[in-house]
Order: sequence, then C-alpha cells, then structure tokens
Amino acid sequence: MDNLLAPKDYAESSIFASEMENLFPATWVFAGLRREVSGDGDWIATRVGDTSITIQNDQGRLRVLHNVCSHRFAVMRTQPHGSGPLKCPYHGWMYDCEGNVAAIPARPRFSNLDEDKIAGMRLRQFTVETCGDLIFVRLNPEGPSLREYCGEAWDTLEKFSQALGLELHVTTLRVSANWKLVVENSLESYHSGCVHPETLGSDRSYRFEIKTGYHFTRYEEAISAPVAAKWGRIKNTFASRPASLDDYVFYSLFPTFSIDTLRGATFALNVIRPLSLTETELHSRVFATRLNPPELEKSALVRAFNDYAISMAPLVVGQDKTICEAVQAGLSQARFSATLSEEEARIVAFQKAYRRYLP
Ligand code: FES
Ligand SMILES: [Fe+2]
Repeated sequence: MDNLLAPKDYAESSIFASEMENLFPATWVFAGLRREVSGDGDWIATRVGDTSITIQNDQGRLRVLHNVCSHRFAVMRTQPHGSGPLKCPYHGWMYDCEGNVAAIPARPRFSNLDEDKIAGMRLRQFTVETCGDLIFVRLNPEGPSLREYCGEAWDTLEKFSQALGLELHVTTLRVSANWKLVVENSLESYHSGCVHPETLGSDRSYRFEIKTGYHFTRYEEAISAPVAAKWGRIKNTFASRPASLDDYVFYSLFPTFSIDTLRGATFALNVIRPLSLTETELHSRVFATRLNPPELEKSALVRAFNDYAISMAPLVVGQDKTICEAVQAGLSQARFSATLSEEEARIVAFQKAYRRYLP
C-alpha cells in the first residue's frame, strides 16, 4: 500500500502551521466527557489544535469559549477542570457564559474603552456537540454535524462512551515527534510483536478485520486460543457489561481521538494533542466497564482484570513514545515514502482523510 504523506509532511513548520489553520478548525475534536461538566458552572479547559478553549456547563447547556483574555491575552484557565465563573488570573477581567466582558477591575482608568469597544472584546464562541458522553468541539462555525462526521461509527462511539465506568488510570506523556506519527502508530498493530512483546504482542491471534470510513477506522482483533480459554472462565462475571464483545476493538475518529476496548470489560480513551511541529501530548485514560448490579464492579475478579489493564497502560504508552521518537529522528534522513502492509491499512485511511483537508 502506498503511503500518501512524504517525510517532509512530518518535519516542515509551514505544514504544521497549515494544519493548525486549515485542518484542526474544520474537524470535530474530542474535548472531554459530559460527566466532567455535569454540574452548573463546571468547566473543562483544553486545546483544539493550537487554540485554547474552555467548555462550561451553563445551567445544563454546554458552551465553548476561547480561553484567551481579550485584555492582554493571558490563557485564563490553566487547569484541566474546575467550577465557577470565568475570570482572568492576570488583572481580573470577568466574562459571562456567552463570552461577554462582564466586569473590568478599575474600569474608570480605561478612558479609551467605550461600550462598543467592550462589546467587540467578546470571546469567540465555538460549536459543541456530544455523542453519548463524549464532547466534541469544532472551531469553524460551518461544517457537518457531529453525527454526519462520525458516520457509521456513531452508534458504537455512543455505546462505548456510555459503558465507561470507574476511571482506573491516566497517562499523559510528551512525545518528541510530530502528532501524525503518534496517530499513525496508534493505527496499526503490526508493531505490537516488536514494541510491546510482553503485553499486546505476547498473545496475538493475527486474525483481524479492518473497516475504514470517511473519518473513522475500526479494527477488531480476535483473541488467541489461550486467552479465549482464560476469558471463557471469567466472562460470566462481565455478562451485564453494556458492550458485550469477546475481542479487542479499536475505533479512531479523525484526526486525533480513539477509544478501544478489551472485550467490553475495560476501555482506553486516547487523545493526541499537537504542541508544536515535533512535540505532541499523548493522553490516555483507562476505564472499567459499568456492570449491573454496580457492586459487581468491586468484586475481586473484576478488580484483578482492571489491575491488568492498569499495569499495562503506562508500559505500552511509554514504549510507543520511545518508538515514535526514533521514527521522528529517522524521518529527516528518509529518501522515499514509507511502504505499508495490509495490517497498516488504517494509516492510509487516516492519510486519505488528511488529504481532504490539506490537499
Ligand atoms: S490579561 Fe486578562 S485581565 Fe489582563
Ligand atoms: Fe503501540
């Protein structure tokens, strides 16, 4: 299979600038979970591409504002979560839920500010939609709805998000590689045997199915016979899980979001955030499934299954970081484009989507 991107696409500042200007604002980017902003006044602060945003629960309605003060441009909310009104930490300007300037300390000292000018300093508002518990933000005012954007992946993303139970583990790593390398690494299992020999690579069945859509990819890998035997002995305990699967299933949504599950029993929610041309943040959260009755979630067997996922997560993510950095270092020395196997077909799907935004 042909790789549609050239080594320079991962290494040139002008291309990164164009991605920030043309690609990220036009796509739906994952921004958080509804449960994180469930109360009135609760907020999340994150980034879409290189734009700082904050999502606020305004009496049950989600609103997304530019998280940059109109006075002298401080990023206002610097923690990932919180609750309360939007107040700039620099000089204390305050904003209402629609982004209007609501209060200016020592207002009479601004003789150059009239009401029209203040109205023009309103924070930009962005578009927000949800799929189940997942919140997505689009910076551009115009574009497809989130449902259209997700296509056939919608039902599964909704179902998986509603299956998320207890948050078990969070890994945040800074990877010295272009964000596309980190995405592409997440879109193939071919590397599992070499990069993750003691975890993902140890029990592979090599029976897999790939499906690709306009903005999503789906990967399903059947479990190996020894794992299936072990799973057969414990799966009854998980019988009430909302996503009743026996395999490993991974969904990605272009450009930077993915959710995967080990037999519907644990889930990983992965977000890749570009920081600069060659610096990327990889944020991975592991969740247990919801079970019914909820007391089952505390049983020894379920805890043991969860402990396995918790122990695996930082190891796997750390190994991926190391290998992505090695690829970034090698790319500047590449003389031709990469060659891909069928097992790497999701990378081509990602690149096709990429080329629709940046021809
Ligand atoms: S920069 Fe925000 S109040 Fe001054
Ligand atoms: Fe990996």
